[in-house]
Amino acid sequence: MTKWGRDDSRLPKALRGLRLPLVAAPLFIVSAPDLVIAQCKAGIVGAFPALNAREADGEHPLLDTWLTRINEELDRHNQANPDRPAAPFAVNQIVHRSNGRLDRDLEICVRHKVPVWITSLGARVEVNEAAHSCGGVVLHDIINNTFARKAIDKGADGLIAVAAGAGGHAGPQSPFALIREIRDWFDGPLLLSGAIASGEALLAARAVGADFGYMGSPFIATREANAQSGYKDMIVSSGAEDIVTSSLFTGVSGNYLKPSIMAAGMDPENLPSADASSMNFSSGSSKPKAWKEIWGAGQGIGAVREVADVASLVNRIEKEYLHAGASLAAEFAP
Ligand SMILES: Cc1cc2nc3c(=O)[nH]c(=O)nc-3n(C[C@H](O)[C@H](O)[C@H](O)COP(=O)(O)O)c2cc1C
Repeated sequence: MTKWGRDDSRLPKALRGLRLPLVAAPLFIVSAPDLVIAQCKAGIVGAFPALNAREADGEHPLLDTWLTRINEELDRHNQANPDRPAAPFAVNQIVHRSNGRLDRDLEICVRHKVPVWITSLGARVEVNEAAHSCGGVVLHDIINNTFARKAIDKGADGLIAVAAGAGGHAGPQSPFALIREIRDWFDGPLLLSGAIASGEALLAARAVGADFGYMGSPFIATREANAQSGYKDMIVSSGAEDIVTSSLFTGVSGNYLKPSIMAAGMDPENLPSADASSMNFSSGSSKPKAWKEIWGAGQGIGAVREVADVASLVNRIEKEYLHAGASLAAEFAP
């Protein structure tokens, strides 16, 4: 049971007792140790993609260095603050054939006993077995009910339902439809992703049947995020109408900030499409230089009004969540 009476006893131990039912989504480039540590210290699950830790050829694996630092800083925090311990952290593995580092990264994560594993773009039994071998919990992200069943069949412990409006590779389905279909047969950990940027939206995620909200884009506009100030400012000044969906930049449909596409000299209303065979997660992948500053974001960013530190952002979400919950509960009082 959590502070506010949320019954989380059916969830895996690593996901119990969090301050808020909130998991930070891993963000390509943007999520690095400073952000992850701040998220965990603020009481929500922090996350980063393993592929963000890129060392030069011949150097010691940066992922190993990052995991040592994260574990040490969170241990220190927990010793100094036994009354408000940090939430666990998650590492995201891109399970795609072009990710040539996967086996090495799995070995490093097992050695550091990573508590939460987020897998994307492919469900594989061996990856789930690696996570379970060190006591980790696997959450697999999916965009429809068919992929959800496959992921659980292959041994994932929980699901991240990526619905319409999400940043990155968004799904096409309404969150109402997607969560309902999954909850018909699955009562394990279920997270909802897509345009959650306020406490009200987080409460709505819980109301439709998700255990947690999964929030990405608002963390881009935090001081701890590894993002240029122009990107952070664009998140603050943009809203849902500024988001455009295109497959051009990665080969899979994703959501991007229109002003960044215009700044790169392209017309966001007339982008050619690309096919999935152009997806490439190897370090040597060559993308046009002009695309380096094409920035991803989900539709929820209208709720982001300032660049703040992570602690303030999580405080805002908590305040809104509790207020919205109390207002709605009053409607049902006898
Ligand atoms: C800039 C950006 C980068 C992302 N990179 C990744 C990634 O590397 N791996 C991953 O699993 N998801 C990635 N995502 C998707 C998020 O995990 C999550 O599904 C999404 O941010 C949720 O929607 P929201 O941004 O509206 O909160 C990314 C999203 C954004 C906006």
